[in-house]
Amino acid sequence: MATEKKVTAIKNTPKHLLGIQNLSVLEAKEILTEAKSFIKLNRGSSKKLDVLRGKTQINLFFEPSTRTQSSFDLAGKRLGADVMTMNMGNSALKKGETLIDTAMTLNAMHPDIIVIRHQDSGAPNLLSQKVNCTVINAGDGRREHPTQALLDALTIINRKGNIEGLKIAICGDILHSRVARSNIYLMNMLGAEVNVIAPKTLMPKGIDNLGVKSFTDMKKGLDGCDIVMMLRLQNERMKGSFLPSKREYYEFFGLTPEKLKFAKKDALLMHPGPMNRGVEIDTKLADDINVSLVKEQVELGVAVRMACLKLYCK
Ligand code: NCD
Repeated sequence: MATEKKVTAIKNTPKHLLGIQNLSVLEAKEILTEAKSFIKLNRGSSKKLDVLRGKTQINLFFEPSTRTQSSFDLAGKRLGADVMTMNMGNSALKKGETLIDTAMTLNAMHPDIIVIRHQDSGAPNLLSQKVNCTVINAGDGRREHPTQALLDALTIINRKGNIEGLKIAICGDILHSRVARSNIYLMNMLGAEVNVIAPKTLMPKGIDNLGVKSFTDMKKGLDGCDIVMMLRLQNERMKGSFLPSKREYYEFFGLTPEKLKFAKKDALLMHPGPMNRGVEIDTKLADDINVSLVKEQVELGVAVRMACLKLYCK
C-alpha cells in the first residue's frame, strides 16, 4: 500500500539551507510553523524525540560561537541524532588543510547533515557542492545567518502575533553584519517595513536596493518602530578604522532608555548576542524584562534549529 506523503514546501533536493535569499515565503513559513510545535516540547520535562534517530550531524565551527553552536548541538540531540561538534581551531586546518579537503574527509564518514559557520562569505555554498549531505549555514562571513533571522521572526511572532505590517529597525554595524542581511530579506518577505540605522561608515552602499529605508540618525530611524534590533560592532571583520571611538559611537548609536522613546510606546528590543554592554546598548536596558526579548531569542533558537534540522534532513 502506498504511504501518504506529507506535502511540503521544502523540496527533497536540493536540501540545503544556505540563506534566506534563496528561500520562498512558503518555505520560511513552513519552518516557522514547525518550530512553533517545538517550543512547548522544549519547555517540558521530556525533551527527546526520535525524528533523526540513526542520523549523523556534524557541526563545523570555524568561528567562535556560544549561542548558535550550543543551540544546534541541543537541537540535534533533542531530535535523536548523533551529534559531533568540531571547533576547527583545533583541526588539521592548522596543518594547512583546505575547506574542501576537510569536506571530503568528513563526507567519507557519511554524515547526514553538516552545520557550518565560517568566516568566508560563500563557504557553506561551496561545501554544499562537495558533499552528499544536507548543509545548513550557521553564519558565513558578512553574508547570511538564516537561522538567526528565522529565530528572530519566531520571537516577534510569539510576542506580536504577526510580522506583517510591523515596522522594524535594525541598528548598528549593518556593513559587516550577516544578521542584518538575513533579517532584511526575511522581514521584508514576511511583510514588515524595515529601517536600517548606522553611521555612514557602517552603512553598505546601495542598501536601499534591498527594500529598506536607511538613516544615520537614531531619532528619525526609530520613529514609529515596533521592534528595535541592535547589532554588535563586528570588530573582527573591520580592516582599518571605521569609528572615532566607542564612546562617541555609544553617544550617537548606543540604545539607551532615552533613545528607545523615539520608537513606539510598546516597542520591544532584540539583540542576537553577544552584546557589548555600554557600546551598542545600555546594560540595564538589555536586561529589562519589560522590553528586552534577548532571552526569548535564545530559547526559541533551539526550536527553530530543530525545525530546520527536521525539515532539511531527508
Ligand atoms: C551573531 C553572529 O555570529 O553573526 N551572533 C549569533 O549568531 N548569535 C552576531 C554577532 O556575532 O554579533
